[in-house]
Amino acid sequence: MKKPIKCVGLAASPRRNGNSTILLQEALRGAADAGADTELLLLNNYRFSGCLSCDGCFKDGECVINDDMQIIYKKILEADRLALAAPIFSMGMCSQGKAMIDRTQRFWSTRYILKRDVIPDRDRRPQRKGIFISVAGSGHKKVFDGAIQVAKYFFLMLETEFLGEYCYQEIDGKGIILNYPRILKEAYTAGFNLAGPPHVR
Ligand SMILES: Cc1cc2nc3c(=O)[nH]c(=O)nc-3n(C[C@H](O)[C@H](O)[C@H](O)COP(=O)(O)O)c2cc1C
Repeated sequence: MKKPIKCVGLAASPRRNGNSTILLQEALRGAADAGADTELLLLNNYRFSGCLSCDGCFKDGECVINDDMQIIYKKILEADRLALAAPIFSMGMCSQGKAMIDRTQRFWSTRYILKRDVIPDRDRRPQRKGIFISVAGSGHKKVFDGAIQVAKYFFLMLETEFLGEYCYQEIDGKGIILNYPRILKEAYTAGFNLAGPPHVR
């Protein structure tokens, strides 16, 4: 029997049961209903540093830092679908999400220094796809602009087609998103569509 596609959710919020993580869980529920194998990673449960800018990855595309990012790299490389959820802190993506993305410098190095594919077997796998989920407490018009650019960069470095962002404003108190069934449904549908009509690889 062929394997179902793998959908990995990356939750960057440090808040347990925070708004963006709840939306991500809804998206993963949708993806599971569309036939995907799903896995939720709470970044706050992993210990990793920011990029040291040591250029160690210029040699072979590997990161020389031996911390929990090595586990996360493996998960994101194995995924066919990625859903990244990160709230807005200080007008940008929260630091946990940004630190993880900075550590994808090894993939930048693979593409632009070593001029190799980041996903070596990508021709034999389904097209990789991803979505970005975010929430912000304020109603500031440009509050998501920076985070969306960072998320797009992340998906580009991972040779992953960006399907879109799902960003919601004036969502502040812990778990308050549960009062918005329309938004929860939208996240579920985004996850369902991310996994697509039952795919196999
Ligand atoms: C350190 C910190 C900085 C924040 N900065 C902003 C901000 O610049 N703009 C904004 O609209 N909301 C800001 N917020 C509010 C969060 O975006 C909001 O509470 C959101 O619902 C948190 O999502 P979460 O529950 O998924 O962690 C900030 C919250 C924290 C803790």
